[in-house]
Amino acid sequence: MDRITQLRDSILKQVAEYYELVHKPDQTAPFSPGESRIGYAGRVFGAEEMVQLVEASLEFWLTAGRWTAEWEQGLADFLGVPAVLSVNSGSSANFLALQALTVPQLGERQIRRGDEVLTVACGFPTTVSPIVQYGAVPVFVDVDAATGNVDTEQLEAARSSQTKAVMLAHTLGNPFDLKRVKDFCDRYGLWLVEDNCDALGSLYQGRLTGTFGDIGTSSFYPPHHLTTGEGSAVYTRNSELHRILLSLRDWGRDCHCPTGMDNCCGNRFSGQYGTLPPGYDHKYVYRHFGSNLKMTDLQAAIGCAQLKRLPEFIRKRRENFAFLRDALADLPQIRIMEATPGSEPSWFVFLMTLTPDAGKERNDLARFLESRRIQTRNLFAGNLTRHPCFDGLVPGRDYRIAAPLIRTDRLMNDALWIGVYPGMTGEKLDYMASSVREFFGK
Ligand SMILES: Cc1ncc(COP(=O)(O)O)c(C=O)c1O
Repeated sequence: MDRITQLRDSILKQVAEYYELVHKPDQTAPFSPGESRIGYAGRVFGAEEMVQLVEASLEFWLTAGRWTAEWEQGLADFLGVPAVLSVNSGSSANFLALQALTVPQLGERQIRRGDEVLTVACGFPTTVSPIVQYGAVPVFVDVDAATGNVDTEQLEAARSSQTKAVMLAHTLGNPFDLKRVKDFCDRYGLWLVEDNCDALGSLYQGRLTGTFGDIGTSSFYPPHHLTTGEGSAVYTRNSELHRILLSLRDWGRDCHCPTGMDNCCGNRFSGQYGTLPPGYDHKYVYRHFGSNLKMTDLQAAIGCAQLKRLPEFIRKRRENFAFLRDALADLPQIRIMEATPGSEPSWFVFLMTLTPDAGKERNDLARFLESRRIQTRNLFAGNLTRHPCFDGLVPGRDYRIAAPLIRTDRLMNDALWIGVYPGMTGEKLDYMASSVREFFGK
């Protein structure tokens, strides 16, 4: 064995030892009710993630390289799509998805400034931000109280001659009614963007969410179904959209050469583009107004190890959700989020909405649980249109509320979630359930 291999192997061996000592969850640590913290989410990882991260760092390629290629292929295989593009965050992936639909080459279907995109206000802001950032008009419809997803009955009335797309998240892992939304989009020739950031592994009629629409996105920020720290992916089955997304992610360039490679097409100095001189270096020809939203090889190396754990992560999330649901189903004071008919969610969290006659306030439940070191969160923005970021927008011009957001407001006022992530233990789940019951005097 040469010196370099020897050194490398010894470093990686020590990293694995370090993991065992520092990061490996201590299964024998006693759980102390009310004192041990119960996070709603957290990174779940093993020695492989750290070893591969260090291996990638020793290679020091840094930007997209061999780990990225393996990670993108693995994720594409999992999703059953031809390819995925890794991106630096879920918000960037959503931005790319919307931006891809605004390029002139899409002709009639191009989303132009002032065109409308149907969405909901009950969710994470960056499902909606790209619409506003581009100068298109988000049109908000209300959600269904049981599933937290778009009320599909309202879509027809919300549509106008300016409507070009529907952009929606699968709320907290619960698929929206893909059949009805997809049929609606197909009927009117609308794009469908699925923000799949909270739903990796969710099934609708047996098929993975994120793969029904024209473009899907995922986030790998730590609370999500797997993590690369920061990071995300965008995917499509449409080869034209794939090329546009790739270009927009990589500075807007026309060239498709992977990072660090030159002249893969063999025509680097023989093309004619725009009014550039013939043979202008294709490396620096710009088809679109892009950004650089790539992820690094270091993150991809972590992702490769996480991907192997994904089926087990999804199984655990479902099991943990089912445990809490069974333990709390008889409480009349709360409504537990219901899976959309025909779906099998890969739950992000466990959402409870206090019923009108619960006799208690949501924030009182939150305070009670937090006092017991049980972490809680609201349904993200609740009703995004009520946030200060809307202060400078003109209703009717910059955005439109198609129907009163009554159930959105209910979720904003009365809902909160606790965790179901794979790092949860039986003792923690038990304690969360008994604490909720105790709060309601049961
Ligand atoms: C539904 C949804 N979309 C987008 C995002 C943004 O992802 P990121 O934090 O990776 O930017 C999140 C973040 O949690 C999310 O929940």
